[in-house]
Amino acid sequence: MADTIQQGDIQQEVERRRNFAIISHPDAGKTTLTEKLLLYGGAIHEAGAVKARRAQRHATSDWMEMEQQRGISITSTVLQFNYLGYQINLLDTPGHQDFSEDTYRTLAAADNAVMLVDAAKGLEPQTRKLFEVCKLRGLPIFTFINKLDRPGRDPLELIDEIEQELGLQTYPVNWPLGMGDRFRGIYDRLRQEFHLFERTAHGKREVEETIIPLGDGQLDAYLETHQFEYHQLKDEIELLDGVGESLDLEQIHQGKMTPVFFGSAMTNFGVKIFLEHFLTYALKPIAYQSNRGKVSPTEENFSGFVFKLQANMDPKHRDRVAFVRVCTGKFEKDMTVSHARTGKTLRLSHPQKLFAQGRESLETAYAGDVIGLNNPGMFAIGDTLYVGSKLEYEGIPCFSPELFAHLRNPNPSKFKQFQKGVSELREEGAVQIMYSVDEAKRDPILAAVGQLQFEVVQFRLLSEYGVETRLDTLPYTVARWVLDGWPALEAAGRIFNAITVKDSWDRPVLLFKNDWNVQQAIADHPKLRLSTIAPLTQAVSTK
Ligand code: G4P
Repeated sequence: MADTIQQGDIQQEVERRRNFAIISHPDAGKTTLTEKLLLYGGAIHEAGAVKARRAQRHATSDWMEMEQQRGISITSTVLQFNYLGYQINLLDTPGHQDFSEDTYRTLAAADNAVMLVDAAKGLEPQTRKLFEVCKLRGLPIFTFINKLDRPGRDPLELIDEIEQELGLQTYPVNWPLGMGDRFRGIYDRLRQEFHLFERTAHGKREVEETIIPLGDGQLDAYLETHQFEYHQLKDEIELLDGVGESLDLEQIHQGKMTPVFFGSAMTNFGVKIFLEHFLTYALKPIAYQSNRGKVSPTEENFSGFVFKLQANMDPKHRDRVAFVRVCTGKFEKDMTVSHARTGKTLRLSHPQKLFAQGRESLETAYAGDVIGLNNPGMFAIGDTLYVGSKLEYEGIPCFSPELFAHLRNPNPSKFKQFQKGVSELREEGAVQIMYSVDEAKRDPILAAVGQLQFEVVQFRLLSEYGVETRLDTLPYTVARWVLDGWPALEAAGRIFNAITVKDSWDRPVLLFKNDWNVQQAIADHPKLRLSTIAPLTQAVSTK
């Protein structure tokens, strides 16, 4: 009987959970949209709070001096709020100069992605990169085209760009009525109603939008004064209805079709309607792949995996936090779990709920939630925690680094500390480490997706291991793993404009100066199978 209640409880909690991450290029408005979503979700009462909180944090104490010095946020956080009975988890991906492998890893814990696009700029490089990771996971993608209150590109052109460049079918759920100075609102194609934009009425606080259904007398009067925008809208809607696809939930859930929304996060416009549609169409917590196949989130026993580790959030305590995505069952404070990689048993006594930087203690969590665990060095990226019979999730791959540098230790007496530090930071996932194939060249090559990772590694080597290091940047920007290993590479013979290195698992990796050289190598060696991410099975185990 108790078991049945527990099961029903889990089922219900999973049903009402929606988890997502926002992917965007810096300045597209991610912070602004996040704030507005929190505002509508009732988690904050006045927009500006997230930014203010960041500012306050910098003014008081921060987890890393470097973060203070640079005035940026290295840490990514999880924001949780309720809306219309849903429990929403927004995984905040670091996005600015702080772009790192963590940004990709966070997507490994997300069930849905919101692709935020600046209407004036269209698709930008960071968005494209993050999109590729979402595509790899088959995540449903919801597109929000932002800053409609400013002059932007033709909406049809933006839609076309998404279709052509990303190979995603689009379904515009709403469509703008004008843009920039002439932005009058949006037309919701599914609900067949107009949401009118009032420039002065929106801002810090939540505001009720004026909504007029199609065919309502009020609308005629309004549209009379905005004939130009209306005629344009009518033509475009006819075009979309005529040639566009219809909304297909299955395609959305498979990440093949993206519902598109237009709006202006800064003025709150289009945020509420986006959130409502998003909650209707987003995937609830998904079943993750494990050694036992896909495991249903409603399974009774708790399980989850570590997708991110963070050191020294609080300089006074020098602690580390392991971020765990709950995949199944019910997590309870003080529960005892098994650690798949080491076979050890652990009691999880200080779990944390994460809201921005504030930490509240957490009592329970379900699939789709993220918990923070204190980690005195026992967790690695991809580790599975479980209750019951042995379970191991598929893990998180190493993503293609774009920056490479030899890390030098100029002081031979610090050799041991240097080795220890490099090895621990690698295990923790702070950076990827590669080595030259020439045994005489022992200096590790740091391989990162963002410059900040280098700085973090150097900073931590100095502050935690007492080793001052030097970096010699290498002129490569692209890495490709050779899928069939060393024999395949040998069979291919000489590869022009590339150097061969090995990763931490002794697997061959080719480094190229640019994409053009990669294309050339592919053309010259059609049998050589190259991959932008490390093969998974080995990537999760530590050497
Ligand atoms: P990010 O986190 O993606 O980097 O972007 P963020 O929200 O910080 O927004 C970048 C800039 O774009 C900010 O302006 C922000 O106000 C503006 N912005 C965001 N959404 C909209 C929108 O819907 N319309 C318009 N017109 N602007 C928008 P800023 O001048 O850099 O900062 P602030 O002084 O306004 O905070």
